[in-house]
Amino acid sequence: MRSSLRTKVLRRLKATSALSATLLASVIHAQSAAPTFYADALPLFEKNCAACHKPDGPRVGGITAPMSLLDYNQARAWAPMIRNALVTGYMPPWGAHERHRGEFKDERYIDDAEKATLIAWIDGGVLEGNPNATKQRVAAGGGTEMPESGWWIGDPDLVVQFEKPVRVADNIEDWQPTIQMPVPEGAHTEPKWIAKAELNPGGPWVHHIVSSHMGVGVPGRGPFTYPEGWGVLMPEDPFITVNMHYHKDPGEGTAVTDMTKAGFVFYEDGAVIDHVVETNLLPHKGWTIPAGDPNFEVNNTFAIDEDIYLLSMGPHMHYRGKAMRYEVEYPDGERETLLWVPDYDFNWQFLYEYKEPKFLPAGSVMHLSWWFDNSSDNRFNPDPTMDVVYGPETTDEMANARIYYAPTTKRGIVVGEDLPRDVLDAAKKAEKQRRENSKLLVLEENDLSWLSN
Ligand code: HEC
Repeated sequence: MRSSLRTKVLRRLKATSALSATLLASVIHAQSAAPTFYADALPLFEKNCAACHKPDGPRVGGITAPMSLLDYNQARAWAPMIRNALVTGYMPPWGAHERHRGEFKDERYIDDAEKATLIAWIDGGVLEGNPNATKQRVAAGGGTEMPESGWWIGDPDLVVQFEKPVRVADNIEDWQPTIQMPVPEGAHTEPKWIAKAELNPGGPWVHHIVSSHMGVGVPGRGPFTYPEGWGVLMPEDPFITVNMHYHKDPGEGTAVTDMTKAGFVFYEDGAVIDHVVETNLLPHKGWTIPAGDPNFEVNNTFAIDEDIYLLSMGPHMHYRGKAMRYEVEYPDGERETLLWVPDYDFNWQFLYEYKEPKFLPAGSVMHLSWWFDNSSDNRFNPDPTMDVVYGPETTDEMANARIYYAPTTKRGIVVGEDLPRDVLDAAKKAEKQRRENSKLLVLEENDLSWLSN
């Protein structure tokens, strides 16, 4: 009925104008036809979801989502969950407020109209429609095949991994150990400039990874690549760590062993490094979040004493984290919000990377604010009856604001020639600090019972 009416109207209109015919077709379609998977939902799943929800095969970043939304049967089976994920804003996952649209790489926003169409498809009875309506295109998000090397960055110059496989025991649902990845003897005997780095998770039980040298690994994110001419010096004997987030269904027989790896590609001799990238966690400590407090605010400032380009920002709190803001106050007193994450989700550790590095002049001050919900209304709260301080356990809290940046002054360092003393010293100092700080972070350092073969 519906389609015959449409055909009739269209035929009559053909005589008048092709353009208005198309227009009317879409109006009729929008008003009367229940959306179908192939005509309406699939293109939106492709656009907004397929970077992570695609059929079996290698995924960018190696971390997987539970189902393919390019498949009608799977999408139908998950429809109630999809509806819920869209209504709550849980999917697509992204923390930066709408105001930042267009600013960061790989941003994930779904338009309201698209959301409405998907919900209408679900409420309209998850109709299949005609498979020829949309030719399934190569899925978004690096639709190319995984290169033979198994690494998106190409053949790595250096690969590091855990000393032993890590056992994620039966009873574990969520677990966040910080683990060292030792450099094999003789594999990195002189300082090198990191051009690209990639995390290669051991399996789908790896939900995300926050690393010392390789950026952040979350589903749908590719490798960590510095802009041409930007790099990080990795001295010999680096201290490489990853903070893993393991997530799986708990229960008998669910244990897995993980062997996550990381690969690096270094700049070749003769390349020129103009911008030496530095990173800082900007941690703020010394506060106590009272038990039950639904909205505890912590503030800190960071003075910028030379002209810099800001590359990226990565807020970090634990389960009581609620919201986070980076603001800059320019020398003339004007303020600008650099990043506003209104609904922080510990399960999604994003690094917000500028499409174009952001210039911040000397004399600016960064204002950092974190908000925590230590009440029982926070469903992730491990214990609302506890006062909470800064600490490494996930039951403790953190107020960190990671930044990656580089001074604007061009260094013109030719790779392979003598390294400027200050650059080498700074890189060594950073490694030393990592080593010292990680004493705090490495869980059960002397207890290897959680490692097994
Ligand atoms: C950046 C990668 C990514 C994108 C993009 C993405 N998802 Fe997901 N999604 C995941 C991962 C990973 C999981 C499983 C872990 C979790 O639930 O946090 C998931 C879980 C889900 C779930 C199950 C939720 C639950 O409560 O168990 C639904 C439903 C879902 N996604 C729908 C969507 C839809 C619809 C879109 C597009 C509008 C989308 N996702 C976009 C990665 C993604």
